[in-house]
Amino acid sequence: MMKPLLSFEHVSCYFPTSFGELQAVRDVSLDLYEGEIFGLIGETGSGKSVLGLTALQLLPENARVTGEVRFESKSLLQLSEKEMRHVRGKEIALIPQNPASSLNPVLKIRTQLREAVRHVKGLKDKEGYLVSWLQAVSFPYPFKLLHSYPFQLSGGMKQRILTIMGAAGQPKLLIADEPTKGLDALARHDVVEALRNICRQTGATLLVITHDLHVAQTLCNRIGVMYAGRLVERNDADSLFATPRHPYTEALLLARPTAGMNPMAGSSPNLLQVPSGCTFHPRCPYASEKCIEELPPWTEYEREKYVRCFLYASCT
Ligand SMILES: Nc1ncnc2c1ncn2[C@@H]1O[C@H](COP(=O)(O)OP(=O)(O)O)[C@@H](O)[C@H]1O
Ligand SMILES: [Mg+2]
Repeated sequence: MMKPLLSFEHVSCYFPTSFGELQAVRDVSLDLYEGEIFGLIGETGSGKSVLGLTALQLLPENARVTGEVRFESKSLLQLSEKEMRHVRGKEIALIPQNPASSLNPVLKIRTQLREAVRHVKGLKDKEGYLVSWLQAVSFPYPFKLLHSYPFQLSGGMKQRILTIMGAAGQPKLLIADEPTKGLDALARHDVVEALRNICRQTGATLLVITHDLHVAQTLCNRIGVMYAGRLVERNDADSLFATPRHPYTEALLLARPTAGMNPMAGSSPNLLQVPSGCTFHPRCPYASEKCIEELPPWTEYEREKYVRCFLYASCT
């Protein structure tokens, strides 16, 4: 197997609230390999964005993070803000969640893209470089586009511009947080193709955070499923969708429109009072006494296929 580019090692994240400390991420360990597209899926509030932001140290000041995030040989959580500024954008770039607020409304796209590539060394023809990027994400009139303002672009176009802003700086790792949120099916398709092309052309590793299962299925090589801050399943994308093992993953897939939109029982837990044992037990049709009392172990039930559920805990 290739070597990991980014490793989360027993990462937990806590936020102080007026009701006590809230744990948004619970002991997550995960390796991302060079050149792969890894998807993090799960319902809103399951800790996907918070986990992604730990890699960039972009959480609010009051957040407390334990564990380790390793990028190549660096321990990211130990870096100072100054050191982190050298990592952000150049080695790890974030494609932010909200295109509308992430682009400056009064600057032309050209100005904003040039700023995004200012640290790229040896670029003689910046304009040509940017045009090739615009072509790579399927903009038919790149010169016209460079001279546009954000308000002249659709949501999907803005998202693709943000994708270029992240990738054109040539980082080794891109983190895209809900890159297709609020887009219609056609724009979603364009953004997925743009991300795929960019990774293919640059060899960048991509971490995609999404609650859109179709995007995860079509774009990702491997997928991790999060529930209430914990990683509950990890598999290659094809196997995960063909044979989901965790009852939560199974329920997520059954809730898809293509599977008949069967709503999942119950609601996601209050993170200030998470259920004992397996956090999913109150909603799980297979739960037994043991699931209420004990946390199931992270089990490799087949090579490189992991699940946190007692149904499979005896498979090893
Ligand atoms: N700054 C914060 N202060 C308190 N709670 C937060 C903060 N940021 C996120 N959270 C909480 O952490 C949990 C996980 O959030 P998030 O990672 O954004 O979920 P996801 O991206 O999976 O939808 C949520 O319950 C959210 O309310
Ligand atoms: Mg999120």
